[in-house]
Amino acid sequence: MQRTQEMTSVQPDWENFYPRPVSDKIPFFSRDGRVYDCLFAQQFSRDLLTLLFRTADALRDVTQKKDGADHVGSLLSDKRAMLYFVQPSTRTFMSFLNACHILGVRTSEIRDTSTSSEVKGETPEDTVRTFSSYVDMIIMRHPTPGFVEKTAWLMNRTGRPVPILSGGSGKDQHPTQALLDVYTLHRSFNGDIDDKHIVMVGDLKRGRTVRSLSYLMKNYKKIKLSFVSPAEFRMEADILEFLKRHNIPFQETEDFKGVMKTADAIYMTRIQDEHDKAGESKSVDYSPFYFRKENLRDIKDTCVIMHPLPRRHEIEVSVDDDPRAVFWRQERNGMWARAALMAYIFGVDGKIR
Ligand code: NCD
Repeated sequence: MQRTQEMTSVQPDWENFYPRPVSDKIPFFSRDGRVYDCLFAQQFSRDLLTLLFRTADALRDVTQKKDGADHVGSLLSDKRAMLYFVQPSTRTFMSFLNACHILGVRTSEIRDTSTSSEVKGETPEDTVRTFSSYVDMIIMRHPTPGFVEKTAWLMNRTGRPVPILSGGSGKDQHPTQALLDVYTLHRSFNGDIDDKHIVMVGDLKRGRTVRSLSYLMKNYKKIKLSFVSPAEFRMEADILEFLKRHNIPFQETEDFKGVMKTADAIYMTRIQDEHDKAGESKSVDYSPFYFRKENLRDIKDTCVIMHPLPRRHEIEVSVDDDPRAVFWRQERNGMWARAALMAYIFGVDGKIR
């Protein structure tokens, strides 16, 4: 891959780079006008999303037959990926792993730094750079906000950069989750995501999925957002400011029952108590933010119920049988969407569609 002008020009130190607006940083994580490192939901334009949805649809289709699966499985058989997931993960890890396998990418993994030289005092940055020597792509989940971005920034300054794909970064972003969420909306609404009322529910303050999904809404027309949360866990001001800047109307409310009637999609989330400093979540009554079986009567026939999973009690299990509950499909969509993204990053997406 060619290094771009942005790459070769002198770059400021990390401390100066990190606080810059995302829109200024995006060129540094791009190559030849394409996304290279996937770190921010803001990197997905509407055109790119449409291209990735078409690629993901084609992948599902082509791989139904062995010939097609073999063809797709040869597209990146010369590539190796490292999955560096040092924060609990089941579905995102498995989803990326299987997406790699669909394309023939061979994989290795680190899930626990206690088995790496970090215990000998090596910095996480050096550890990751070491891994990068052996592979062609790093897929990374990390609890520290900015760490995935810093890795991409560091790697882009070396003579042998490899794409870095975020599988979830601290409380701030989870761009590929947002990708699979809009892919799910796209499939649920027959390709027409414009003019929809999207309701996001739960711990909006600390949930990175709802943050990334909010950013993606700028790509669609006449979207209305409702943020339903306990007072303690309201959506952060940076997202609200982003929505104002992009003229996306939103309301904040605790009246879940009131807003669900007009919802086209209800996006449920769990309480993110792993971020508690002193068990503060325990004092919050989360039960008004549950979706119960009886609520199925209150929502539109065409409304979809989504959840990034894992779930606790925020969606009653008996809701799963309703055709409007799409969260299990949403999970599977993730594998195809991530495979489409990797195919695009390595420039083989045109061989699938
Ligand atoms: C989410 C995450 O890790 O942010 N899970 C996921 O990736 N599907 C949501 C969560 O943990 O609540």
